[in-house]
Amino acid sequence: MNEKAIADNNRRGRLLVVGLGLIGGSLAQAARERYLCLEVIGVARRQATLDQAIENGIVDRVAEDPPDALRELGEGDVVVLSVPTLAIGQVLGELRQHLDPAVTITDAASVKGSVVATVRDVYGAVPPQFVPGHPIAGSEQSGVGAANPDLFVDHRVILTPLAETAPEHVERVRRLWEGVGATVTPMPVDEHDEVLAATSHLPHMLAYSLVDTLAKMDENREIFRYAAGGFRDFTRIAGSDPVMWHDIALSNSEAILGVLDLLTENFAALRQAIADRDSDYIMGVFTRAREARTHFAKMLDRKAYLEPAEASSLTYCTQPRALPLAGRLRVPGDKSISHRSVMLGSLAEGITRISGFLEGEDSLATLQAFRDMGAVIEGPDHGEVSIHGVGMNGLSPPPGPLYLGNSGTSMRLLAGLLSGQRFDVEMTGDESLSRRPMKRVVDPLTQMGAQIETGDDGTPPLFIRGGQPLKGIDYVLPMASAQVKSAVLLAGLYADGETSVTEPAPTRDHTERMLGGFGYPVVREGDTVRIAGGGKLRACTIDVPADISSAAFFMVAASIVPGSDIVLEHVGVNPTRTGVVNILRAMGADISLLNEREAGGEPVADIRVRHAPLRGIHIPEDQVPLAIDEFPALFIAASCAEGRTVLTGAGELRVKESDRIQAMADGLCTLGIVATPREDGIEIEGGEIRGGTVESHGDHRIAMAFAVAGLVATDSININDCQNVATSFPGFAALAVKVGFNLTELRE
Ligand code: S3P
Repeated sequence: MNEKAIADNNRRGRLLVVGLGLIGGSLAQAARERYLCLEVIGVARRQATLDQAIENGIVDRVAEDPPDALRELGEGDVVVLSVPTLAIGQVLGELRQHLDPAVTITDAASVKGSVVATVRDVYGAVPPQFVPGHPIAGSEQSGVGAANPDLFVDHRVILTPLAETAPEHVERVRRLWEGVGATVTPMPVDEHDEVLAATSHLPHMLAYSLVDTLAKMDENREIFRYAAGGFRDFTRIAGSDPVMWHDIALSNSEAILGVLDLLTENFAALRQAIADRDSDYIMGVFTRAREARTHFAKMLDRKAYLEPAEASSLTYCTQPRALPLAGRLRVPGDKSISHRSVMLGSLAEGITRISGFLEGEDSLATLQAFRDMGAVIEGPDHGEVSIHGVGMNGLSPPPGPLYLGNSGTSMRLLAGLLSGQRFDVEMTGDESLSRRPMKRVVDPLTQMGAQIETGDDGTPPLFIRGGQPLKGIDYVLPMASAQVKSAVLLAGLYADGETSVTEPAPTRDHTERMLGGFGYPVVREGDTVRIAGGGKLRACTIDVPADISSAAFFMVAASIVPGSDIVLEHVGVNPTRTGVVNILRAMGADISLLNEREAGGEPVADIRVRHAPLRGIHIPEDQVPLAIDEFPALFIAASCAEGRTVLTGAGELRVKESDRIQAMADGLCTLGIVATPREDGIEIEGGEIRGGTVESHGDHRIAMAFAVAGLVATDSININDCQNVATSFPGFAALAVKVGFNLTELRE
């Protein structure tokens, strides 16, 4: 059978379209061209429209006598009312007596509440055969001449069936719209009208009003000569069908007035800000709007900020290679420092300028959270960010829960900082973050007087009740955690009296250093840090060094590939972060720190790494907190080393973005390495890495570690679920390829 014959076989029912304008004409033509129905019949008021519909092949035939055509219809047939919203009552009134109750009726109006009310008026009650519908598609052209059979492809159609609507009719309408390429979404009538008032009706009112204002302002239309692309783009919709929009304005007046009032209020505030030359207010509106405009599709899907909207999964594929790695490279900015720069910059007085900011999803989640709480933040633009600080007590309640994606650091540090605010906040995260332990911050914060509710087992979401007076405490950390230390110190800024944190082993001290940089007194005595509440932060400049945790993958890569010689530029080498250098050196790696200097209160160096044979070691436990994020990469080094590497005292790895001990052990075993997980560590026998498929469990560092393994594997490795690499290392694959990795990305 040929294509048409197969299609003919599937054809079902007849389609009668009343009103052959843009929507009705496009639907008729699409249904006809896709052989969806036995016959497509057109009904229109004007003879010229009917003639054109026949001439353009939009319908199979037109109904010379509509009542007759309607009487022919029965079960399985569909009538679509595609007439202006306010005409539906009259049209339905005329057709009703000729329509069998088995015929499916739907409409295409942009307002659903008024249509349902009209149908109820005409019938006395909404009949089960009526399925209210709204295709969200259009064009500034109208009329049958503008009909386009692809108009609905990849567009949404909202159906708003009522309790009394029969499922078989809904199903028939759904099939029709899906048949012409649309995605069908059900929605309650009221919700539809509110959503559309905001996203469609309001912009149309604005566009009409703007063009009309300018047209009146300049009777000679002289200014339109200078109307460039922006004006044309913005006002395109003012070219839409006036009757249709007149009807919409009146039919959905209540919802439209609601959003129009909101906009008018906001607009008046913007006007005032311009009059007052209030730069902060103006920049606030523009930067927030730009961010929302750029990311709204992703925000809507609760997707990460940098993930391409269409990509649901990313696989890395490595091919074996023996060529050495070479070149100089700068990996993205330090994640820990980037988070803290936004937090302290937002609470400071004045404008904090940041360079080298990590434009990864985790730090962008923190940035968005502070925008949501009223800080005006310009950028990031090539790593540059300017934050107009609001002062210690200047944050405002966010419009909804703060969504922190994959970022444990954001949630834990914010828990401390937000415990001291006057407003309530809820914080949520993705699947991985929603499993991570929060009790470790909730416990000390509660001792300080904070009120925090968690989900089951102390996991997110966190709900923080504002307005609680905090008091300073002396907290002895039960585990070596910079996040917990930082959360307590940040709450300490708002606490009455002094707060101290004592740690069992040194952990990264970026919070303490940066507080000092913002002019906030911090006292460090041995393993204890102390601050007093009630002080102020003064804006400053921050140069974020490259992240040693990202550099670690290249340190291991260059160490294990013979002949390699690379330089990693401007890497942060704070001694609380250089465990990876110490451990690799102990294994025999050839690493030198060049050009050691200080940038913005943090030690920085260029790191040269040359290939060297590695040997297995027992990793000293005091190095564990100093290399806590680098173990996935170090496990690859261990797999390539001569002999056995033993890690103990690293139970924390089990509660990172994934259980990193289990995830790495599983992957390494798949690749032929003998790796034995232990409660608080792992034992790895060096050996030959083979090919295979491994799971990253959505953990960025596991994904990158196995990409490094691919360099020396005997066969190709597929690494699943790598999309979260963008949380800490956007552009990893491209940079890796640049220095010599044989790595491809596969998006599905
Ligand atoms: C971080 C501290 C560490 C680290 C995380 C970032 C920070 O977590 O693993 O990636 O920025 O303070 P813990 O404090 O839980 O060890």
